[in-house]
Amino acid sequence: MVQPANLIIDTDPGVDDAIAILMALASPGVDIVGLTTVGGNVPLARSTRNALALLQAAGRSDIPVARGATRPMRGRYIYAPQFHGPGGLSTRLPDPIAQPVPEGAVQFLHNHLTRQPGGFVLVALGPLTNLARLIREWPTALEQAKKIVIMGGAVDTPGNVTPKAEFNFYSDPVAAEIVLSSRLPVTLVDLAACRQVGISRDQAFGLRTAHPLGRLVLSLLNGWFQREPSRERFEFYDPLALAIALDPAIATVVKVDLDVGLEENDSWGETLESGGPGEVTLPQAVNVPRFFGMLETFLEIEELPVQ
Ligand code: RIB
Ligand code: CA
Repeated sequence: MVQPANLIIDTDPGVDDAIAILMALASPGVDIVGLTTVGGNVPLARSTRNALALLQAAGRSDIPVARGATRPMRGRYIYAPQFHGPGGLSTRLPDPIAQPVPEGAVQFLHNHLTRQPGGFVLVALGPLTNLARLIREWPTALEQAKKIVIMGGAVDTPGNVTPKAEFNFYSDPVAAEIVLSSRLPVTLVDLAACRQVGISRDQAFGLRTAHPLGRLVLSLLNGWFQREPSRERFEFYDPLALAIALDPAIATVVKVDLDVGLEENDSWGETLESGGPGEVTLPQAVNVPRFFGMLETFLEIEELPVQ
């Protein structure tokens, strides 16, 4: 059952980020209080522009967007234009009129989380740089969140950037380690969970909707397949994290302790189990029909039989 929620989404849009944000916008009882942006899939200026453009296209330019990190705690972001397209989205959206708010992401998160303890669910869909900086600058702010759900990591499953590392953790492993070692009760939706929810090219092209946000989702999804004729499956990484934040019963879970590879070798950004049971809630088996049911219900998507 989808729980009413006031969300703050930390994001690097990104095709799957955009679909997750549209799902949240279409969810009854769910209010997006703000987006904080981070470099990752694309540079910060572009992820911020994409966030503003997406909200504008959805008719929600009232939602504030706060700019976050341009670089990780150590090194540089690697970006992923080959996956998301050079502009970061797989559909063309008009340039936004709205500007980001004056305060930065860390200040925005601190102000909201401390002003209303237990009031906000924080969903992190990109590299964890903004959250790590928040912990460093205001150590008690994150614990004021009602819930923290993160898309990242690859636990006992191959990575998607290197054989061992998932993109968000690889992009800023120092930040991921700061967040996971904070012993905050986070939910980590990793690649093993996300790989359970995918859609084929034919299934995607068979979808129909009259919902304005649903049409944006299908435009992003079909645009992603159309960019590369060899693409056969789209996996709903960030949308699954969003769905679990709204309806935790979508997946079974275990409690683990995790470390992140910080050696500058082939374990950079690796997610390592370090005993437990620990503080991290790790989804295991996803109720796939329930996930797709949310997507279809929120966005009034009708799946036509694949011809
Ligand atoms: O590994 C998948 C994650 O990296 C997703 O959040 C995607 O948007 C990219 O940021
Ligand atoms: Ca993302």
